Amino acid sequence: MEDQKLSSLDPIVNLAKRRGFFFNTAELYGGANGLFDLGPLGLEMTNRIKQLWWRWFVHERSEVYGLDAAILTPAVVLEASGHTESFTDPLIECLNCHIRLRSDHYLEEESEEIFIFRWRDEAIKQRKLGESRATEEAHAAWIKLQEEKLLTCPNCETVHFTEPRQFNMMFKTQLGAVEGAGADAYLRPETAQGIFTNYKNILDAFHPKLPFGIAQIGKSFRNEITTGNSLYRVREMEQAELEYFVKPGEDEATFEYWKGEWYRFLTEGLGIKPEQLREYEHVKEKLSHYSKRTIDFEFAFPFGWGELTGQANRTDYDLKQHMERSGRDLTFFEEATRERFLPYVIEPTLGIGRALLAVLCGSYKEYPNGRDGQGTEMETVLHLPHHLAPVQVAILPLMKKDGLAERAQEIFKQLQPHTVAVYDETGAVGKRYRRQDEIGTPWCITIDYQTLDDGTVTIRDRDAMTQERISVEALVQRFSK
Ligand code: GAP
Repeated sequence: MEDQKLSSLDPIVNLAKRRGFFFNTAELYGGANGLFDLGPLGLEMTNRIKQLWWRWFVHERSEVYGLDAAILTPAVVLEASGHTESFTDPLIECLNCHIRLRSDHYLEEESEEIFIFRWRDEAIKQRKLGESRATEEAHAAWIKLQEEKLLTCPNCETVHFTEPRQFNMMFKTQLGAVEGAGADAYLRPETAQGIFTNYKNILDAFHPKLPFGIAQIGKSFRNEITTGNSLYRVREMEQAELEYFVKPGEDEATFEYWKGEWYRFLTEGLGIKPEQLREYEHVKEKLSHYSKRTIDFEFAFPFGWGELTGQANRTDYDLKQHMERSGRDLTFFEEATRERFLPYVIEPTLGIGRALLAVLCGSYKEYPNGRDGQGTEMETVLHLPHHLAPVQVAILPLMKKDGLAERAQEIFKQLQPHTVAVYDETGAVGKRYRRQDEIGTPWCITIDYQTLDDGTVTIRDRDAMTQERISVEALVQRFSK
């Protein structure tokens, strides 16, 4: 099957809405930026992606423990982890129309202006310059940069922005009816912190040896300055994260190991083609506050290469911070060497929404003249990996009459406990095949007159479009999970 490169996300977004994969949240009221609701098919596919990930990284490994930590996170946890101070993006605002932009996305020379303001903060902290002098110099540098680069607002085309300021992306709330210290909480910005705060519980309950991991899938929330590209940049997302604890000194080799495992999951598990993936190494100056090294796997989305997964070497940063702040001993005691130390952490992570979007983009194909190339109508097929398709099998009676529909219903009921099946009797059978192709159903079972005679049905393969005849008895066996 030849690849077809999409030039925009529009066909995917249209298909998603038309066929029930995902919808913009509160669409009735005009929608909400950066929020999406999963429809029946998107939910089914997402569940399949998550179950596959869980099977690979939890069930098939005896050294990885599963966890589901609370989403509401007491402020103290995120103060200790550095998120209240450093989980920020640089924000600029147009002084004319007040549109707000993420300056590192807006400027091509990404780090230049952040550098100016980082430099200012650093200069003040280290008392190299007084605050007003540092601010003055940074301000002058920002004006110069705007003039030199002729930065115009993408909305109103005027040329004056506010200086970049660091905007914290966490959603703040409070626990209980009393406001104030101790009650402050955040919707977690990453699932990782719930893992670090439970690390000692896992040690005490399971006594693992190093290396071991704790895995979690769950929602995270970021008040992104700008959202966009459908599910790609949203404010409520789902992450699948693994924190893998190793002995210091073994971190770099473990990093390479996990990079390979993650790549294998993307290509063999999610069926993403190697040519649609590339590795991106973060430059030192732009690493997150906790990371010694970060790489991403990027996917060739229709709008360009975009981060699909990330992998960081978080060193002992988080455990050290939580040990200091909580006053609890988080060191690991290694029996064999009688040594005590804080483990290092390798963290591979995957955005589930981005995975869904990538799999949809990689599977989508339009046939302008139909599947046989002779038609006049365009046909769309999602060539999804079979194990990720939201509907596994469609049961179609050739006709509604002559007892065919009743027989098809019986077969449908027989299959329902074993797989995800749908029943469809409306319209010509060719049209029904096309409806299933469009949502990626790998197999269609047709009940025809021969079924009534000899108890056999046809199975049509979505990709090859071949038909095979098998007995009804063999169907259950074939479609059992
Ligand atoms: N614990 C590490 C961490 O959260 P990250 O690179 O900020 O690292 C991990 O996020 C993954 O979560 C990304 O690789 C991406 O797939 C997904 N992700 C991050 N921000 C997102 C957003 N605003 N919308 C959708 N997915 C996002």
